[in-house]
Amino acid sequence: MKALVLSGGSGTRLRPFSYSMPKQLIPIANKPVLEYVLEDVKALGVTEIGIIVGSWAPQIEEAIGDGSRLGVRVTYIPQDAPLGLAHCVTLAKPFLGDDDFVMYLGDNMLPEGTADIAGEFRAGRPAAQIVVHKVADPRALGVAELDTEGRVTRLVEKPEEPKSDLALIGVYFFTSEIHRAVASISPSARGELEITDAIQWLLDDGAEIKASEYQGYWKDTGRTDDVLECNRYLLGSLRPAVLGECDDASRLIGEVRIEAGARVVRSRIEGPAVVGAGSVVEDSHIGPDTAIGQGCTLRDTRIRDSIVLDGATISGVPGIQGSIIGRNATVGAGAHVDTYHRLVVGDHTRIEVAA
Ligand code: DAU
Repeated sequence: MKALVLSGGSGTRLRPFSYSMPKQLIPIANKPVLEYVLEDVKALGVTEIGIIVGSWAPQIEEAIGDGSRLGVRVTYIPQDAPLGLAHCVTLAKPFLGDDDFVMYLGDNMLPEGTADIAGEFRAGRPAAQIVVHKVADPRALGVAELDTEGRVTRLVEKPEEPKSDLALIGVYFFTSEIHRAVASISPSARGELEITDAIQWLLDDGAEIKASEYQGYWKDTGRTDDVLECNRYLLGSLRPAVLGECDDASRLIGEVRIEAGARVVRSRIEGPAVVGAGSVVEDSHIGPDTAIGQGCTLRDTRIRDSIVLDGATISGVPGIQGSIIGRNATVGAGAHVDTYHRLVVGDHTRIEVAA
Protein backbone atom coordinates (compact mmCIF):
# COMPACT_ATOMS: atom_id res chain seq x y z
CA MET A 1 0.00 0.00 0.00
CA LYS A 2 1.12 3.57 -0.77
CA ALA A 3 -0.02 6.89 0.71
CA LEU A 4 -1.11 10.16 -0.86
CA VAL A 5 -0.91 13.13 1.50
CA LEU A 6 -2.60 16.35 0.39
CA SER A 7 -0.62 19.41 1.32
CA GLY A 8 -1.60 21.92 -1.35
CA GLY A 9 -4.68 24.12 -1.14
CA SER A 10 -5.04 27.78 -0.30
CA GLY A 11 -5.65 27.84 3.48
CA THR A 12 -7.76 31.01 3.31
CA ARG A 13 -9.47 30.17 6.62
CA LEU A 14 -6.11 30.28 8.37
CA ARG A 15 -5.16 33.82 7.41
CA PRO A 16 -2.95 35.63 8.27
CA PHE A 17 -0.69 32.60 8.79
CA SER A 18 -1.41 31.19 5.38
CA TYR A 19 -0.02 34.38 3.82
CA SER A 20 3.44 33.33 4.85
CA MET A 21 3.34 29.57 5.47
CA PRO A 22 1.30 26.53 4.45
CA LYS A 23 -1.35 25.59 7.00
CA GLN A 24 0.03 22.04 7.11
CA LEU A 25 3.21 23.39 8.77
CA ILE A 26 1.43 25.17 11.63
CA PRO A 27 2.96 23.69 14.80
CA ILE A 28 0.66 22.07 17.31
CA ALA A 29 2.32 21.21 20.63
CA ASN A 30 5.51 22.27 18.78
CA LYS A 31 5.23 19.85 15.86
CA PRO A 32 3.86 20.67 12.39
CA VAL A 33 0.48 19.12 11.58
CA LEU A 34 2.01 17.46 8.50
CA GLU A 35 4.50 15.57 10.67
CA TYR A 36 1.68 14.06 12.74
CA VAL A 37 0.05 13.00 9.48
CA LEU A 38 3.24 11.35 8.15
CA GLU A 39 3.78 9.60 11.50
CA ASP A 40 0.26 8.19 11.40
CA VAL A 41 0.79 6.97 7.83
CA LYS A 42 4.02 5.30 8.90
CA ALA A 43 2.21 3.65 11.82
CA LEU A 44 0.04 1.92 9.18
CA GLY A 45 3.20 0.31 7.82
CA VAL A 46 3.17 2.58 4.75
CA THR A 47 6.47 4.23 3.85
CA GLU A 48 6.05 5.16 0.14
CA ILE A 49 4.37 8.55 0.41
CA GLY A 50 3.42 11.00 -2.33
CA ILE A 51 2.81 14.54 -1.08
CA ILE A 52 0.72 16.94 -3.17
CA VAL A 53 2.23 20.42 -2.91
CA GLY A 54 1.04 23.75 -4.26
CA SER A 55 2.68 27.17 -4.13
CA TRP A 56 4.22 26.45 -0.71
CA ALA A 57 6.26 23.54 -2.07
CA PRO A 58 9.67 25.00 -1.08
CA GLN A 59 8.72 25.43 2.62
CA ILE A 60 7.18 21.96 2.78
CA GLU A 61 10.19 20.36 1.09
CA GLU A 62 12.52 22.17 3.46
CA ALA A 63 10.58 20.93 6.52
CA ILE A 64 10.06 17.32 5.45
CA GLY A 65 12.93 16.71 3.03
CA ASP A 66 13.07 13.23 1.55
CA GLY A 67 11.24 11.86 4.61
CA SER A 68 14.21 9.86 5.92
CA ARG A 69 14.17 11.74 9.26
CA LEU A 70 10.66 10.30 9.77
CA GLY A 71 11.52 6.88 8.36
CA VAL A 72 9.51 7.27 5.14
CA ARG A 73 10.23 7.92 1.43
CA VAL A 74 8.62 11.05 0.09
CA THR A 75 7.86 11.91 -3.55
CA TYR A 76 6.60 15.46 -4.13
CA ILE A 77 3.79 15.88 -6.64
CA PRO A 78 3.19 19.51 -7.71
CA GLN A 79 -0.31 20.88 -8.19
CA ASP A 80 -0.55 24.23 -10.02
CA ALA A 81 -3.91 25.24 -8.55
CA PRO A 82 -6.15 23.76 -5.83
CA LEU A 83 -8.59 22.11 -8.19
CA GLY A 84 -9.91 19.59 -5.68
CA LEU A 85 -9.16 16.44 -3.73
CA ALA A 86 -10.06 14.19 -6.66
CA HIS A 87 -7.79 16.28 -8.92
CA CYS A 88 -4.94 15.34 -6.55
CA VAL A 89 -5.65 11.64 -7.19
CA THR A 90 -5.50 12.26 -10.95
CA LEU A 91 -2.13 14.00 -10.62
CA ALA A 92 -0.79 11.20 -8.44
CA LYS A 93 -1.70 8.36 -10.85
CA PRO A 94 1.86 7.91 -12.17
CA PHE A 95 3.12 7.66 -8.56
CA LEU A 96 0.30 5.39 -7.34
CA GLY A 97 0.13 3.04 -10.33
CA ASP A 98 -2.44 0.29 -9.59
CA ASP A 99 -1.53 0.02 -5.90
CA ASP A 100 -4.00 0.34 -3.04
CA PHE A 101 -3.45 3.59 -1.17
CA VAL A 102 -4.48 5.66 1.81
CA MET A 103 -5.30 9.30 1.05
CA TYR A 104 -4.74 11.56 4.03
CA LEU A 105 -5.57 15.29 4.16
CA GLY A 106 -2.48 17.12 5.38
CA ASP A 107 -4.42 19.40 7.74
CA ASN A 108 -6.42 16.72 9.54
CA MET A 109 -5.43 15.40 12.96
CA LEU A 110 -6.48 11.94 14.15
CA PRO A 111 -4.10 11.47 17.09
CA GLU A 112 -5.55 8.10 18.09
CA GLY A 113 -4.50 6.74 14.69
CA THR A 114 -6.26 4.79 11.97
CA ALA A 115 -4.53 1.39 12.28
CA ASP A 116 -7.77 -0.56 13.00
CA ILE A 117 -9.47 0.97 9.99
CA ALA A 118 -6.46 0.23 7.75
CA GLY A 119 -6.69 -3.37 9.00
CA GLU A 120 -10.37 -3.57 7.97
CA PHE A 121 -9.54 -2.18 4.53
CA ARG A 122 -6.66 -4.61 4.00
CA ALA A 123 -8.87 -7.55 5.02
CA GLY A 124 -11.85 -6.70 2.79
CA ARG A 125 -10.37 -4.47 0.06
CA PRO A 126 -13.59 -2.60 -0.78
CA ALA A 127 -13.26 -0.04 -3.60
CA ALA A 128 -13.25 2.66 -0.91
CA GLN A 129 -13.19 2.62 2.86
CA ILE A 130 -14.10 6.01 4.29
CA VAL A 131 -13.51 7.22 7.83
CA VAL A 132 -16.46 8.94 9.48
CA HIS A 133 -16.94 10.71 12.79
CA LYS A 134 -20.04 12.09 14.53
CA VAL A 135 -20.02 15.89 14.56
CA ALA A 136 -22.59 18.37 15.85
CA ASP A 137 -22.73 20.42 12.63
CA PRO A 138 -21.39 18.73 9.48
CA ARG A 139 -22.49 21.44 7.02
CA ALA A 140 -18.88 22.47 6.26
CA LEU A 141 -17.80 18.86 5.64
CA GLY A 142 -18.51 15.83 3.48
CA VAL A 143 -21.41 13.85 4.95
CA ALA A 144 -22.08 10.10 4.74
CA GLU A 145 -25.54 8.57 4.89
CA LEU A 146 -25.66 4.94 6.05
CA ASP A 147 -28.50 2.38 6.03
CA THR A 148 -29.53 0.43 9.14
CA GLU A 149 -26.91 -2.24 8.36
CA GLY A 150 -24.16 0.41 8.30
CA ARG A 151 -23.75 0.35 4.51
CA VAL A 152 -22.99 3.66 2.79
CA THR A 153 -26.00 4.77 0.74
CA ARG A 154 -25.07 8.34 -0.19
CA LEU A 155 -22.27 10.90 0.17
CA VAL A 156 -22.79 14.65 -0.08
CA GLU A 157 -20.16 17.40 0.05
CA LYS A 158 -21.04 20.30 2.39
CA PRO A 159 -24.83 19.82 2.35
CA GLU A 160 -26.98 22.73 3.52
CA GLU A 161 -29.33 20.29 5.21
CA PRO A 162 -27.32 17.24 6.28
CA LYS A 163 -29.31 14.01 6.59
CA SER A 164 -26.74 12.46 8.93
CA ASP A 165 -24.27 13.59 11.59
CA LEU A 166 -21.46 11.42 10.19
CA ALA A 167 -18.75 13.55 8.58
CA LEU A 168 -15.92 12.33 6.33
CA ILE A 169 -12.79 13.15 8.25
CA GLY A 170 -9.88 13.31 5.92
CA VAL A 171 -8.63 9.72 5.65
CA TYR A 172 -9.70 7.47 2.78
CA PHE A 173 -8.53 4.00 1.71
CA PHE A 174 -8.80 3.16 -1.98
CA THR A 175 -8.09 0.38 -4.45
CA SER A 176 -7.16 1.40 -8.00
CA GLU A 177 -10.90 1.51 -8.89
CA ILE A 178 -10.93 5.13 -7.73
CA HIS A 179 -8.98 6.20 -10.83
CA ARG A 180 -11.95 5.39 -13.10
CA ALA A 181 -14.19 7.46 -10.82
CA VAL A 182 -12.00 10.58 -10.65
CA ALA A 183 -11.73 10.53 -14.45
CA SER A 184 -15.53 10.44 -14.78
CA ILE A 185 -16.76 13.24 -12.50
CA SER A 186 -17.19 16.97 -13.22
CA PRO A 187 -16.26 19.96 -11.02
CA SER A 188 -18.68 20.87 -8.22
CA ALA A 189 -20.40 24.23 -7.69
CA ARG A 190 -17.23 25.48 -5.94
CA GLY A 191 -15.22 24.53 -9.02
CA GLU A 192 -13.39 21.56 -7.48
CA LEU A 193 -13.21 17.90 -8.40
CA GLU A 194 -14.61 16.49 -5.15
CA ILE A 195 -13.41 13.15 -3.81
CA THR A 196 -16.87 12.83 -2.23
CA ASP A 197 -18.41 12.89 -5.73
CA ALA A 198 -15.87 10.34 -6.97
CA ILE A 199 -16.83 7.92 -4.18
CA GLN A 200 -20.53 8.55 -4.90
CA TRP A 201 -19.76 7.70 -8.55
CA LEU A 202 -18.29 4.36 -7.43
CA LEU A 203 -21.37 3.72 -5.31
CA ASP A 204 -23.68 4.42 -8.27
CA ASP A 205 -21.51 2.08 -10.34
CA GLY A 206 -22.24 -0.73 -7.89
CA ALA A 207 -18.86 -0.79 -6.12
CA GLU A 208 -18.51 -1.71 -2.46
CA ILE A 209 -17.95 1.32 -0.21
CA LYS A 210 -17.38 0.81 3.49
CA ALA A 211 -17.47 3.32 6.33
CA SER A 212 -15.66 2.97 9.64
CA GLU A 213 -16.39 5.22 12.56
CA TYR A 214 -13.31 6.79 14.16
CA GLN A 215 -13.91 7.07 17.89
CA GLY A 216 -10.92 9.20 18.91
CA TYR A 217 -10.25 12.92 18.90
CA TRP A 218 -10.44 14.50 15.42
CA LYS A 219 -9.73 18.01 14.24
CA ASP A 220 -9.54 19.73 10.86
CA THR A 221 -6.96 22.40 11.68
CA GLY A 222 -8.24 24.78 9.01
CA ARG A 223 -9.12 27.62 11.43
CA THR A 224 -7.22 29.29 14.27
CA ASP A 225 -9.69 28.24 17.00
CA ASP A 226 -9.38 24.64 15.86
CA VAL A 227 -5.57 24.93 15.98
CA LEU A 228 -5.74 26.16 19.59
CA GLU A 229 -8.21 23.47 20.62
CA CYS A 230 -6.01 20.80 19.08
CA ASN A 231 -2.99 22.30 20.85
CA ARG A 232 -4.77 21.93 24.21
CA TYR A 233 -5.65 18.34 23.39
CA LEU A 234 -2.15 17.32 22.31
CA LEU A 235 -0.42 19.11 25.17
CA GLY A 236 -2.54 16.88 27.42
CA SER A 237 -0.29 13.95 26.48
CA LEU A 238 3.00 15.85 26.63
CA ARG A 239 6.05 13.94 27.89
CA PRO A 240 7.45 16.13 30.68
CA ALA A 241 11.21 16.69 30.79
CA VAL A 242 13.70 19.40 31.63
CA LEU A 243 16.39 19.21 28.96
CA GLY A 244 17.30 22.88 29.15
CA GLU A 245 18.10 25.11 32.14
CA CYS A 246 15.71 26.17 34.85
CA ASP A 247 16.98 28.36 37.74
CA ASP A 248 16.11 27.88 41.44
CA ALA A 249 13.83 30.89 41.45
CA SER A 250 11.54 29.26 38.86
CA ARG A 251 8.66 26.86 39.48
CA LEU A 252 7.47 24.16 37.10
CA ILE A 253 3.95 22.96 37.89
CA GLY A 254 2.36 19.88 36.30
CA GLU A 255 3.40 18.48 32.91
CA VAL A 256 6.10 20.79 31.60
CA ARG A 257 8.68 20.19 28.90
CA ILE A 258 11.72 22.44 28.58
CA GLU A 259 13.66 21.55 25.44
CA ALA A 260 17.44 21.48 25.14
CA GLY A 261 19.10 24.88 25.10
CA ALA A 262 16.02 26.65 26.52
CA ARG A 263 16.49 28.85 29.61
CA VAL A 264 13.86 29.56 32.26
CA VAL A 265 14.70 32.32 34.75
CA ARG A 266 12.56 33.60 37.69
CA SER A 267 9.45 32.23 36.00
CA ARG A 268 6.45 30.03 36.67
CA ILE A 269 5.59 27.46 34.01
CA GLU A 270 2.22 25.85 34.50
CA GLY A 271 1.64 22.65 32.54
CA PRO A 272 0.68 21.43 30.20
CA ALA A 273 3.24 23.63 28.51
CA VAL A 274 6.32 23.29 26.33
CA VAL A 275 9.22 25.70 25.87
CA GLY A 276 11.08 25.02 22.61
CA ALA A 277 14.81 24.63 22.06
CA GLY A 278 16.87 27.77 22.51
CA SER A 279 14.02 29.90 23.88
CA VAL A 280 14.49 32.25 26.83
CA VAL A 281 11.76 32.83 29.41
CA GLU A 282 12.43 35.47 32.09
CA ASP A 283 10.20 36.88 34.86
CA SER A 284 7.17 35.35 33.15
CA HIS A 285 4.20 33.11 33.85
CA ILE A 286 3.60 30.63 31.03
CA GLY A 287 0.67 28.21 30.71
CA PRO A 288 -1.36 26.21 31.07
CA ASP A 289 -2.06 24.97 27.52
CA THR A 290 0.80 26.85 25.91
CA ALA A 291 3.41 25.88 23.34
CA ILE A 292 6.43 28.15 22.88
CA GLY A 293 8.45 27.38 19.74
CA GLN A 294 12.21 27.50 19.18
CA GLY A 295 14.37 30.57 19.64
CA CYS A 296 11.65 32.69 21.26
CA THR A 297 12.18 35.35 23.94
CA LEU A 298 9.54 36.01 26.60
CA ARG A 299 10.12 38.62 29.31
CA ASP A 300 7.76 40.04 31.97
CA THR A 301 4.90 38.28 30.29
CA ARG A 302 1.83 36.27 31.28
CA ILE A 303 0.59 33.94 28.56
CA ARG A 304 -1.78 30.98 28.58
CA ASP A 305 -3.76 28.85 26.11
CA SER A 306 -1.60 30.03 23.22
CA ILE A 307 0.90 29.04 20.55
CA VAL A 308 4.06 31.09 19.95
CA LEU A 309 5.89 30.26 16.73
CA ASP A 310 9.67 30.17 16.29
CA GLY A 311 11.67 33.32 16.81
CA ALA A 312 8.88 35.44 18.32
CA THR A 313 9.58 38.01 21.05
CA ILE A 314 7.06 39.01 23.73
CA SER A 315 7.93 41.45 26.48
CA GLY A 316 6.06 43.36 29.15
CA VAL A 317 2.64 41.97 28.25
CA PRO A 318 0.70 40.97 31.34
CA GLY A 319 -2.14 39.00 29.79
CA ILE A 320 -2.20 37.01 26.56
CA GLN A 321 -4.60 34.14 26.05
CA GLY A 322 -6.23 32.27 23.18
CA SER A 323 -3.56 33.64 20.87
CA ILE A 324 -1.28 32.50 18.07
CA ILE A 325 1.85 34.57 17.57
CA GLY A 326 3.55 34.17 14.18
CA ARG A 327 7.19 33.51 13.40
CA ASN A 328 9.56 36.32 14.33
CA ALA A 329 6.66 38.52 15.47
CA THR A 330 7.33 41.14 18.13
CA VAL A 331 4.72 41.86 20.79
CA GLY A 332 5.62 44.52 23.31
CA ALA A 333 4.25 46.89 25.91
CA GLY A 334 2.52 50.03 24.65
CA ALA A 335 0.91 53.11 26.15
CA HIS A 336 -2.53 51.79 27.24
CA VAL A 337 -3.48 49.58 30.19
CA ASP A 338 -5.80 46.59 30.01
CA THR A 339 -5.80 43.03 31.30
CA TYR A 340 -6.31 40.32 28.66
CA HIS A 341 -5.80 40.79 24.95
CA ARG A 342 -6.61 38.32 22.24
CA LEU A 343 -4.19 38.27 19.34
CA VAL A 344 -4.16 36.29 16.13
CA VAL A 345 -1.08 37.74 14.50
CA GLY A 346 0.71 36.84 11.27
CA ASP A 347 4.43 36.31 10.77
CA HIS A 348 6.70 39.35 11.19
CA THR A 349 3.86 41.45 12.59
CA ARG A 350 4.56 44.01 15.30
CA ILE A 351 1.94 44.73 17.97
CA GLU A 352 1.84 47.17 20.89
CA VAL A 353 -0.41 46.41 23.83
CA ALA A 354 -0.96 47.51 27.44
CA ALA A 355 2.22 48.27 29.37
O1 DAU B 1 -11.55 18.01 6.82
C1 DAU B 1 -12.41 17.05 6.27
C2 DAU B 1 -13.06 17.58 5.00
O2 DAU B 1 -12.00 17.84 4.05
C3 DAU B 1 -14.07 16.57 4.41
O3 DAU B 1 -15.18 16.42 5.29
C4 DAU B 1 -14.58 17.05 3.06
O4 DAU B 1 -15.43 16.08 2.51
C5 DAU B 1 -13.39 17.30 2.12
O5 DAU B 1 -13.84 17.82 0.87
C6 DAU B 1 -12.40 18.28 2.76
O6 DAU B 1 -13.05 19.55 2.84
P1 DAU B 1 -12.28 20.96 2.97
O7 DAU B 1 -13.04 21.98 2.19
O8 DAU B 1 -12.06 21.23 4.41
O9 DAU B 1 -10.89 20.67 2.25
P2 DAU B 1 -9.65 21.64 2.11
O10 DAU B 1 -9.86 22.57 0.98
O11 DAU B 1 -9.34 22.23 3.46
O12 DAU B 1 -8.49 20.65 1.71
C7 DAU B 1 -8.11 19.55 2.50
C8 DAU B 1 -6.61 19.29 2.36
O13 DAU B 1 -6.27 19.00 1.01
C9 DAU B 1 -5.75 20.47 2.77
O14 DAU B 1 -4.58 19.96 3.43
C10 DAU B 1 -5.36 21.12 1.46
C11 DAU B 1 -5.33 19.94 0.50
N1 DAU B 1 -5.73 20.26 -0.88
C12 DAU B 1 -6.97 20.77 -1.11
C13 DAU B 1 -7.37 21.05 -2.40
C14 DAU B 1 -8.78 21.57 -2.67
C15 DAU B 1 -4.84 20.03 -1.92
O15 DAU B 1 -3.70 19.55 -1.68
N2 DAU B 1 -5.23 20.32 -3.19
C16 DAU B 1 -6.48 20.80 -3.49
O16 DAU B 1 -6.79 21.00 -4.68
